[in-house]
Amino acid sequence: MPTENTQVANLFMEQGGQSLASSIIDFAQELLEMENMYESATKEIATKLEILDSEFQVKNKRNPIHQIQRRVKSPQSIFEKLSRKGFEVSAQSAKENLNDIAGIRVICSYINDIYTVARLLMSQNDIEVVKIVDYIKNPKPNGYRSLHIVVKVPVFFSDRMEKVKVEVQIRTIAMDFWASLEHQLHYKAGGNVPPEIAAELKECADIISSTDLRMQNLHSQVENLKKVISDGSED
Ligand code: GTP
Ligand code: MG
Repeated sequence: MPTENTQVANLFMEQGGQSLASSIIDFAQELLEMENMYESATKEIATKLEILDSEFQVKNKRNPIHQIQRRVKSPQSIFEKLSRKGFEVSAQSAKENLNDIAGIRVICSYINDIYTVARLLMSQNDIEVVKIVDYIKNPKPNGYRSLHIVVKVPVFFSDRMEKVKVEVQIRTIAMDFWASLEHQLHYKAGGNVPPEIAAELKECADIISSTDLRMQNLHSQVENLKKVISDGSED
């Protein structure tokens, strides 16, 4: 069945534009291969995280990871980001200049789990750490909190291996709840967020952060209680 790309190409060829048509097909093929490469890299990282999570469940009877989301940036967003940042618009330039074509978001229940998951992933010897930005220890002025890690993971194809960059964002459920609303607001309001809304969001971010710390503390106390009870029942 002819794809949309070949239909467009045929149209050009009927009009005598063979070379233009074949360059469109080549470019479409390059985009498809690139999308597949980044998609594969997100699968590799997601699998590593699922394995760490299930091992933790077997050993500790709970899951540090609440949810894993993965996405590959659309060609349009890649184009917009390259143009916005003043980079050349090409597949090669995207590979070199963008860290977040492949993105994984890991949602954890507790703050300590964020650092455990990050440490375990980064210590795997096929993983190369490109960049770590800790917006939990150093929140953004608007209140945004998350741990961002850019890693390179090897992906094996029929004829080669490529180390592919993936941006991993790790945050708590509460931080994610906040970031989703803040993202919507930015999307809707563009650069013009009303100052009273920005201030209230910042206040919510701070409340969420102190609640996350209290929940972490309570969780540690519950774990200690469980340990005391099970040690007692062994006597
Ligand atoms: P970008 O060009 O936005 O990707 O920034 P960067 O390459 O300097 O990386 P940074 O670590 O600041 O942000 C990477 C990603 O984190 C963004 O694409 C968002 O998904 C997320 N992020 C960063 N800052 C914010 C924020 O203030 N609010 C929300 N909701 N998300 C954010
Ligand atoms: Mg980004």
